[in-house]
Amino acid sequence: MKILGIGNGAREHAIAEKLCNSKYNPKIYWITDIRNPGLNRICKETNGELLLANTLDAEKVGEIAERLKVDFAFVGPEEPNFYGIPDELERRKIPCIGASKDVAIIEQSKAMMRRLQWEYDLPGKLLFKTFKSSEEAYQVLKNYENTLTWLQNVALKPARQAGGKGVKVVEDRQIYLHEEKSKFKSFHVNWLENYMKSYSDIDDKILVEENVWGPEYTLQCFVDGKTLIPMPMVQDNKNAHDFDIGTETGGMGSIAGPKMFLSFMKEEEFQSSVEIVKGMVKAIQDRSGKKYKGIVAGQMMMTEVEGPTIIEMYSRLGDPEALNVLSMLKSDLVDICYAIIEERLSKIKVEFKEIATVVKAIAPKGYPDFRNLAKNHPVQVDEESIIKNNCKLFWGSCELKDGELLTAGSRLLEILAEGEDMNECSERINKCMSYVKLKDGWGLYYRSDIGSKELLERREKMADRARRLYQYRIEKGILGKRVDWLPKIGKIDPVRVLRDELKGNG
Ligand SMILES: Nc1ncnc2c1ncn2[C@@H]1O[C@H](COP(=O)(O)OP(=O)(O)OP(=O)(O)O)[C@@H](O)[C@H]1O
Ligand SMILES: [Mg+2]
Repeated sequence: MKILGIGNGAREHAIAEKLCNSKYNPKIYWITDIRNPGLNRICKETNGELLLANTLDAEKVGEIAERLKVDFAFVGPEEPNFYGIPDELERRKIPCIGASKDVAIIEQSKAMMRRLQWEYDLPGKLLFKTFKSSEEAYQVLKNYENTLTWLQNVALKPARQAGGKGVKVVEDRQIYLHEEKSKFKSFHVNWLENYMKSYSDIDDKILVEENVWGPEYTLQCFVDGKTLIPMPMVQDNKNAHDFDIGTETGGMGSIAGPKMFLSFMKEEEFQSSVEIVKGMVKAIQDRSGKKYKGIVAGQMMMTEVEGPTIIEMYSRLGDPEALNVLSMLKSDLVDICYAIIEERLSKIKVEFKEIATVVKAIAPKGYPDFRNLAKNHPVQVDEESIIKNNCKLFWGSCELKDGELLTAGSRLLEILAEGEDMNECSERINKCMSYVKLKDGWGLYYRSDIGSKELLERREKMADRARRLYQYRIEKGILGKRVDWLPKIGKIDPVRVLRDELKGNG
């Protein structure tokens, strides 16, 4: 059996490892933009091949897959989905685990995802407004007297998935700071307009969403066009430093287990999150007329206004979240892939181990703001000692070049521990971090707190507060309802305003 993977990072290393551990002993081939040492090793060990090519070039990827006569392909990251790699493979009759372009739009266009939620009246949605220019956006945002108040206290986003860049949450509640915050909003919508110039595939440019609050989590699922099978809930930690301080990164580490839902969540919250993701899949299948086959995930938040709510959709596994769920997966990933391809997920059993899993990333200083500084440092890793400590290493943003390992500017590698106790897993990984060094003395950083008792307690408190609020709303029959007002008019229902606007836009 031959399997072809696409993508560069630690998520892809984890997928490749899971595939190569299958009972079918497949040969692993992988298309990457840079030579990831983990993928390189797996390809060699299974007598496959690592091929350097542009992972967004559908024609090229299609050609390679056809030439190699692979049995199926597995797409790791989102951009190849947006560039139609799964569609091109399908055209060449090569099965693919990857969302086709028309359904991956729920990740690609954050604006389209919100519109779909309201048009199909799905649960877990937020008030939103889209704009085609910064001028248009600013006119609405600055018009304090004639603008609904939710439009003051907002998340400003690029309307397209932009790889973790550009989202700014602005709490604008104090009148004496309004002018300063207004200036910032004006600056940021300009920035967003400029930023979106590098993308021509989405009409909307700026997305403004109501600002909500609560614990965040990711719910990843296998889907075959008919059946959706959820994987364990994972929590990623985006801030660069301990206790959620510092810039947002692609994710500094994640926790999951021992159950399907996180310890600070409730089973019914897991179930309603699954229903929300199912609803999204149904809606996009209905809208596009295409089957959703591969991976779908909700990056979610348990909010006061809606309970489980979608922040954004993924058309692929998360990174680092993939490492948690794949290490917990008991079933053979190749069997699952075939069940997806042949649309018989409902007929197979997908099982997960009841263990705690912790993943932590280590990154060169400079990441994420100054990636150039974080690039080209020679890496030295004592993997044997990591394994002796019962941890696993997955290579991320690292390039094997002329026999030397070099940092490539983003998260260098991720270390995974599994066990009974999350806190112990966390500490075990912390010990391993001393086995990772840069030979030129350049600094590295990681988060020691992910999975710790202290951080979990903090999450519990947050979850408890959000839960009490949304359950109060359920009791009063006002879940999902909003009240707003205009100074000269009085009370207004912003949900009705939004629905009217959407109808008007046809
Ligand atoms: N409506 C919102 N209210 C409050 N916070 C939000 C809202 N939308 C986003 N955020 C915060 O900003 C973060 C980033 O937003 P989002 O996930 O939409 O984009 P992204 O980070 O660019 O994508 P990626 O997850 O791929 O990095 C979220 O994880 C969340 O913490
Ligand atoms: Mg996100």
